[in-house]
Amino acid sequence: MKVLGIVSSPRKAGNSELAVKEILMRLPESWEREMIRLNELDLEYCTACYSCIPADKKCRLNDDLEFFLEHVRRSDKIVIGAPAYYLGGHTAMKVTLDRFLSIVNNYDDFKGKDCVFIGSYGRPGSDGLLKENMVIFARKLHLDIVDSQIILTANPGDSVQGDNLRALHRLAASIENPPEKPYQTDGEITCPYCTSRAITLMEDGSWKCTVCHGVGTIENKDGKYGLDYDPNNKDYNFSLEDFKSHADYLAKMKQLFLDTRHKIKELQAKYADVDFWVRPEKSA
Ligand SMILES: Cc1cc2nc3c(=O)[nH]c(=O)nc-3n(C[C@H](O)[C@H](O)[C@H](O)COP(=O)(O)O)c2cc1C
Repeated sequence: MKVLGIVSSPRKAGNSELAVKEILMRLPESWEREMIRLNELDLEYCTACYSCIPADKKCRLNDDLEFFLEHVRRSDKIVIGAPAYYLGGHTAMKVTLDRFLSIVNNYDDFKGKDCVFIGSYGRPGSDGLLKENMVIFARKLHLDIVDSQIILTANPGDSVQGDNLRALHRLAASIENPPEKPYQTDGEITCPYCTSRAITLMEDGSWKCTVCHGVGTIENKDGKYGLDYDPNNKDYNFSLEDFKSHADYLAKMKQLFLDTRHKIKELQAKYADVDFWVRPEKSA
């Protein structure tokens, strides 16, 4: 068994790094372990060139994306650690995530890999969309999230103490032997499709997940609210059907662009010489 730890934090020996190491250290001796810090990789922004569409094409940027993807491909299990930065997941995760457009067709290369993640945040009530951003990162990498935990960690080292340490040990047990259902924080209601907490409640008693667009009805059983859903519904982001339909959609839109590019060029021409840009002066 091979497990890859992915850290998206610039802080050396910070909470995310220690948390991922703690989980990896709990796993059976015989397991091979590797870690990658996204911040250390040379990863450019996606340039929206769409060269990676359709299926047989690869990203044309020559950087460390393939190194990263190859290490994920070679692994059986994945552990991800990242902090909250301004009410969302850390930026290195987003820069990497945007490059996953190039693997939207490659479900088969990645499927079936269990993943757990730990999100660290420093200020009570300020974890924002950290969990949701980590769900998106893991699921767009085609991983199966078997457990996760968001932990309050004001200073380095807080992730590996007290209740946080106990949560990490639970995550280690989950990655070794995935539970039937991911752990649920007491009293919290999450999306039954993707585990996100970002749910829109509708006047008619239905709900919609902002992250995966899963839908269902709000139910009340014995005075407790919950979200009812259809386990056979495949019409939500991150289902295999949705990856396929996204890939088809992108291929169609690319073809439409190629077929109509003369018209698009005409539209753009009107703005080509409009130059309101200001730029910093570069010293020689
Ligand atoms: C630029 C910056 C933004 C941050 N934004 C948040 C935030 O929005 N909410 C929060 O609770 N903590 C925030 N923090 C605190 C970190 O999430 C917290 O210290 C975490 O433990 C850092 O994990 P690390 O050591 O793995 O980097 C921020 C820290 C920095 C440096």
